[in-house]
Amino acid sequence: MKKADDQLLVIFGASGDLTGRKLIPSLFELYAADLLPERFAILGAARSEYSDDQFREEQRKHIREELSGREVEEEQLNGFLSLVYYFAFDSVHSVQYRELNGKMEALRKEKGIPDRVLYYLATPPLMYEKIPGFLAENQMNDASDPDGWRRIVVEKPFGISYASAKQLNDHLKGIFNENEIYRIDHYLGKETVQNLLVLRFANGIFEPLWNRNYIHSVEISAAESLGVEERGKYYDGAGALRDMIQNHLMELMGFTAMECPAAFEADQIKAEVSKVFRSVRPFTPVDMPERVIRGQYEGYREEPNVAPDSYTETYAAVKLFIDNWRWSDVPFYLYTGKKMAEKRSEIVINFKSTPHVLFAGQCSGKSCNRLIINIQPDEGITLYFGLKVPGIGYKVEQVGMDFRYKSLSDTPLPDAYERLLLDVMEGDSTLYPQSDTLEISWKLMDPVLEYWKQQGREGLYFYPPGQNGPAERCVIAPEPESCPFLPK
Ligand code: BG6
Repeated sequence: MKKADDQLLVIFGASGDLTGRKLIPSLFELYAADLLPERFAILGAARSEYSDDQFREEQRKHIREELSGREVEEEQLNGFLSLVYYFAFDSVHSVQYRELNGKMEALRKEKGIPDRVLYYLATPPLMYEKIPGFLAENQMNDASDPDGWRRIVVEKPFGISYASAKQLNDHLKGIFNENEIYRIDHYLGKETVQNLLVLRFANGIFEPLWNRNYIHSVEISAAESLGVEERGKYYDGAGALRDMIQNHLMELMGFTAMECPAAFEADQIKAEVSKVFRSVRPFTPVDMPERVIRGQYEGYREEPNVAPDSYTETYAAVKLFIDNWRWSDVPFYLYTGKKMAEKRSEIVINFKSTPHVLFAGQCSGKSCNRLIINIQPDEGITLYFGLKVPGIGYKVEQVGMDFRYKSLSDTPLPDAYERLLLDVMEGDSTLYPQSDTLEISWKLMDPVLEYWKQQGREGLYFYPPGQNGPAERCVIAPEPESCPFLPK
């Protein structure tokens, strides 16, 4: 694999959780795989007072923690940490950006790095507008060298509504060119999600069946066994729909439902995903009760930083329709929940039953055919079909044909951040959502959020932790073949 162009990476929010848990360990993995640019440095910027060495020691601990269970060579770790620097500053004061710029230039000179800078906003969302604004004020948003560039990665949440997402987009686009803005959705960096494109478009056998003639319904889900843990403050203002469905699950739906692009190029792929989003049927006040459902796990209100009378949903399910020739009237169920029985994200393609039932009681009265793409854990793909149980008579039961990634190699799959960091360093935005999909998806979800706000306590179902969400979830998926969503 080719190394990315020489560049400087500046991480804002460098003393935070995301930097320590995800960004630095992923960058270390890229270093260990010899994929980082030849001339490269990481400059962490945040308010905490660290020297370069103190910051390096902090990051050493994070790497060891995150890669626990794996042997990490001290020499390799030291080699990586020698690329890491720190600048203590207060990101809300414009004048301090001049000093930051001075530090960046000195570092580039020392390392022989050309005029290429990648900014990463690993800060609270409050800063997503402010930092780019200060960069612009200090002329740090443009390269002066014609071969140079600036890029910026913005973390989620990208807005909390259509209006705020649009405002953020407009603001960023006033400062950077669209092709310099990378809005990260870590789900698209998952190996299994990328493989969805290969499964669909490198194989001729699935495509003829991948439509309303053969598919009964599609389920896209992310169940988590943990609760909100330390994130009560953020989560209580967000809820499951904003936290998982509006972004991660909608983007998965885009890859599942898109047409084959003309070429495997970022613009072509994004154009197809965008068409899917544009075809999603909006919710109306009339159909809303049959298309959305929400729940809250018992005990959520006692979590730290959660309001004692909170109506925030920790479980959400929505039924979507993609109004185009391929998908007309096929329900897409997107659902997610915290404190569920297990952590599992998957895409399930439920195929229609045979038009005529030849074997009495075949597959217990349900369709025998289903394709499950396990995104995590136990990454793999399983195709289910009906088979005769050995012995007298014709008892037909569903059996699975399995592919598991771990059968390919003992090495764990790369973390999504490794792939996404490498891509942005190389200027490849294929796995970064386009601005219009984010806006459209907010536009779709805003009325649901409004409906739930109006409903208040009504229609909020409480569910016991460690199970499969509220029993009422089947209201939106009445056919026996699609409910209960979990377990399969
Ligand atoms: C994040 C959400 O975007 O994704 C979290 O904010 C959630 O609430 C997480 O736990 C799930 O990611 P993953 O990769 O563990 O499925």
